[in-house]
This record gives sequence, C-alpha cells and structure tokens, in this order.
Amino acid sequence: MLQQLEDLKLNALRELGSITNITELESWRVRYLGKKSELTKVLRSLATLPVDERKAVGAYANEVKAHLEDGLRQKGQVLQQAQLAVSTREEAIDISLPGRPIPVGRLHPITQTLHEICGIFVAMGFQVVEGPEVEWDYYNFEALNIPKEHPARDTMSTSWVDFETDSGENPMLLRTHTTSVSARIIETVPPPIRVIEPGKVYRYEASDATHTPMFYQIDGQVVDEGITMADLKGTLYEFARRFFGEDRKVRFRCDYFPFVEPGIEMAIECLVCGGKGCRLCGNTGWIEILGAGMTHPQVLQHGGIDPEVYTGFAFGIGIDRLPMLRYGIDDIRLFYSSDLRFLRQF
Ligand code: DAH
Repeated sequence: MLQQLEDLKLNALRELGSITNITELESWRVRYLGKKSELTKVLRSLATLPVDERKAVGAYANEVKAHLEDGLRQKGQVLQQAQLAVSTREEAIDISLPGRPIPVGRLHPITQTLHEICGIFVAMGFQVVEGPEVEWDYYNFEALNIPKEHPARDTMSTSWVDFETDSGENPMLLRTHTTSVSARIIETVPPPIRVIEPGKVYRYEASDATHTPMFYQIDGQVVDEGITMADLKGTLYEFARRFFGEDRKVRFRCDYFPFVEPGIEMAIECLVCGGKGCRLCGNTGWIEILGAGMTHPQVLQHGGIDPEVYTGFAFGIGIDRLPMLRYGIDDIRLFYSSDLRFLRQF
C-alpha cells in the first residue's frame, strides 16, 4: 500500500511538472485530489485496514496529500503570473512607464486679485453684489449725476448698443464703470448698505500697453445714518494696508467725480522706488489706485433715499493695475492674450 502511494505521488508530480495552463491544472487536481481520486479512496478505506497498517498508511497518505496540494498551489501561482505577463504584452502596456501628469488649470491673475480684494472687504462686513454688463444710460450716467450733454460723459468713451426705443433714443450701452451697480443697489436695497460690486467694464478705446476695451473694476458703497469721510478713509486705509502691506504709505487728495461730493483719489507710495520717484510713478513717488468720495445727495435721492437722514461713501478701484504693479507687468494686453506661457506663472 505504501509503495502504491509512493508511485502515485511520483506520477502526480511528474505530470504536474509538464502542465502549461490552468485548464490542465484543474483536471490534474480532479484526477489526483478530487473526490474520486485514488488518494481519496485510500484515505476513505483506512478504517478497513488492520490497526498497525492503518497508522502508517494514514500518516503517509496525508503526507502525500499535503505534498500534492502544495504543488497545486505553487503551480497555480506560476501559471497565473505567466498569463498576466502574456496579456500585458498583448495589450502592449508597459507597466513600468510612469503616468503622464494631467494638466491642472489655475485661476487667472485678475480673478485671483478679484477674489483677494473681495475677501478683504467681506472680512470688513461687505456683501458682494453683481449687476448687468449691458446697462441702461440711466444707471450708468443719469442716476449718477451725469445727464446728457454733461462733459463728464466725454471722459468715458462709450460703446453704445444698437437699440432704439419708440421715441428714437439709444439708451443701451456696455457699462463704462461698475458704479452703475451702485445706482441699482441704492434703488433696490434699503439702508444700511455695505456692498462691493466687482465686474467687467467697457470703453470704446483702442488697445495699447495701458488700455484695453474691456477691463475690471470693483466699486464699493456704504450708506447708513451718520457715515462720514472718516469712515471712508478708515475703510480704504485698511484695504490698502491689507492688500499692499503694513508699511505702505497712502495719500488722499481732492478729485472730481460727478456722483460724489467731496470727491477724492487715493494713491499709494510707489512700489518700485518707495516714494523717491521713478519711471513707473512718473517721478512723483505716488501711484493712484482708486477714486472715491461721499455719495452725492442727489444720487441718494435718485435711489429714493433721504439724504437728510442717510449719508454714504463710495469708491471705485481699477483691478488690472494691481497685479501689474505687484508683479511688474508692463503691458495690460498680456492678461487677455491667452498666452499660457504668461498665465502659467501665476
Ligand atoms: N467710476 C469711476 C471711474 O470709472 C471711479 C469711481 C470714482 C468710482 C469715485 C466711485 C467713486 O464709486 O466714488 O473712473
């Protein structure tokens, strides 16, 4: 009986050695380890053997079984790996080749600047609002104290929309400043108002290094009881401190805008020469950043707000100049030329 088992084992292992695929391996398993295999029969018949023989045959039969199971497992692994190698070769996949990086986009430098400025004002309690880019003459000019024939209209070359009313007027335009949103807000939102109004604006102008027919502004507006010039200066000073840094000097001077009285402009100390005077600041040491002022009583009245009860301040910032100053960019057209070599730097 032991000899029979020994032969069985040798035969089984020899056959196992020549097996080359999973199907053959499976029939080998059925033949040598299956329910009807010789080995299983021997193990089942142990009970019929005399006691002394039973022990020896039983021990050896189990040993043979373990041996064959071991061989089966190992062969299975070898075949599986061989198959994987074949299939990857067939699909021509080189699994050692590093993956190609997926190009990741980023926010445009102007968008980044807008987000940063909005963040600063939101932290001061302002709300962000938006208005239409195609606007009525009324909100862009009339409501802001710039009636027809007013010379201030000449300071903003306007793109008019080809649209005529029944009475033969052309009151539709591409907004020339985001101050138009301020006119809409005071008409619809009751005070207290504390908003910033970012967006695109349009001027009928040829492009050059400092002009494009479309650019970005942020206007801001506060209306409440008891608002004074001190609130205006404090707010804008804090903005400049947060955007340009703690030590940047700020200068306020008188200026004129029809929708504010008094009107001012704010300048910061030149970022290049630190106030000594250079080409960027036209040798003045200062760079103008924004226009502002106390909202004109008549503008409040246009919006249905009583200027005897409420006062307000407003400001308007040109956005494009800020990253130009910060990164030393000398041509505004680079922002809008979609040149990835330029845009990837931010
Ligand atoms: N809208 C003006 C411009 O585009 C800038 C401006 C000045 C906005 C004073 C304001 C302001 O809100 O108070 O030139």
